[in-house]
Amino acid sequence: MDLAAITAALTAGLAAFEGAATPEQLEEVRREYLGGSGLVKKVLGGMKDVPKEQRGQFGKAANELNARLTAAFESAKTRLASAPALPSGDFDVTRPGIRREVGHAHIITQTIEEIVAIFNRLGFAQVEGPEVEDEFHNFDALNIPPGHPARNEDDNFFLQLSGPDWPPKPVPLLLRSQTSTIQIRAMQNMQPPLRVIAPGRVYRPDEVDATHHFMFHQIEGLAVAEDLNFGDLRSVLELFVREYFGADTKMRLRPHYFPFTEVSAEVDINCEMFSHLKKPWLEILGCGMVHPNVLTAVGYDPEKYNGFAFGMGVERIAMLKHGIGDIRHFVANDLRFLRQF
Ligand code: DAH
Repeated sequence: MDLAAITAALTAGLAAFEGAATPEQLEEVRREYLGGSGLVKKVLGGMKDVPKEQRGQFGKAANELNARLTAAFESAKTRLASAPALPSGDFDVTRPGIRREVGHAHIITQTIEEIVAIFNRLGFAQVEGPEVEDEFHNFDALNIPPGHPARNEDDNFFLQLSGPDWPPKPVPLLLRSQTSTIQIRAMQNMQPPLRVIAPGRVYRPDEVDATHHFMFHQIEGLAVAEDLNFGDLRSVLELFVREYFGADTKMRLRPHYFPFTEVSAEVDINCEMFSHLKKPWLEILGCGMVHPNVLTAVGYDPEKYNGFAFGMGVERIAMLKHGIGDIRHFVANDLRFLRQF
């Protein structure tokens, strides 16, 4: 090996020590250059073959090679010791982390929250009631007497079917068929004046199709005081539909019949949001002045108090607002549908 080769070995060795990225790599480089049969040993061992006159120069170069590579090894060792231990392999520390997906409220929950929030601002307090009800709250107190078709066993999810009177049966229970039950519970729990808004699930054994399901949601509203009239009902509903469906919304009340209200009406709206449906009027809820029999059933004096009530289907409103064509989407648990809202 001549002087030029020693210089080249020094350059290569320094680069190799500097480039060592792991203790394992450093050890490999050390063995190659400083090990028992490494390059430095070979250079020093080759000294005896160098002609006498060149031996001084060669020895100096060989010693420098040994000293500088030893120093480079030491500094590489220090460098690796202070560096954080990185996982080996093809782990890329600059890669973005794995993001945990954050969920959001179901479109039905969002719809309920938006509607309830509007009525909250109008002074209606949110209340709830049980989904398993008795016949008093689901029917009798709502002026739906025994024998009324709405009480048919085939049209309700009764939990205990009625039968012969003996032996005595427990009180029949059913999955509530309407949130109007919560009107009764609210009036039993509070004294007028009161204003409540009550969302909840309701159940009817309907054949399931694009617009019917055996479980859906309603939102019930009720106000009772000494001096409420039909104009109050109308203005509250007008404030609601303009807030929810847009300021341009037109509303009309169409005479209707409900057992628990007198007078009763259905509300139709016309607004820009639904112009694509090409229908001038869309029905969105039922309403009316609370029937005196209902007030009597909860112990209120119908001579002293009166009130108004309304009820709407949440699925129907969400379907209209978002252009959803099939009620079954709400319960299909398909993320492709749910993520749209
Ligand atoms: N309970 C009715 C239904 O399920 C909806 C309804 C109509 C509720 C008129 C009301 C009302 O409070 O006044 O079809």
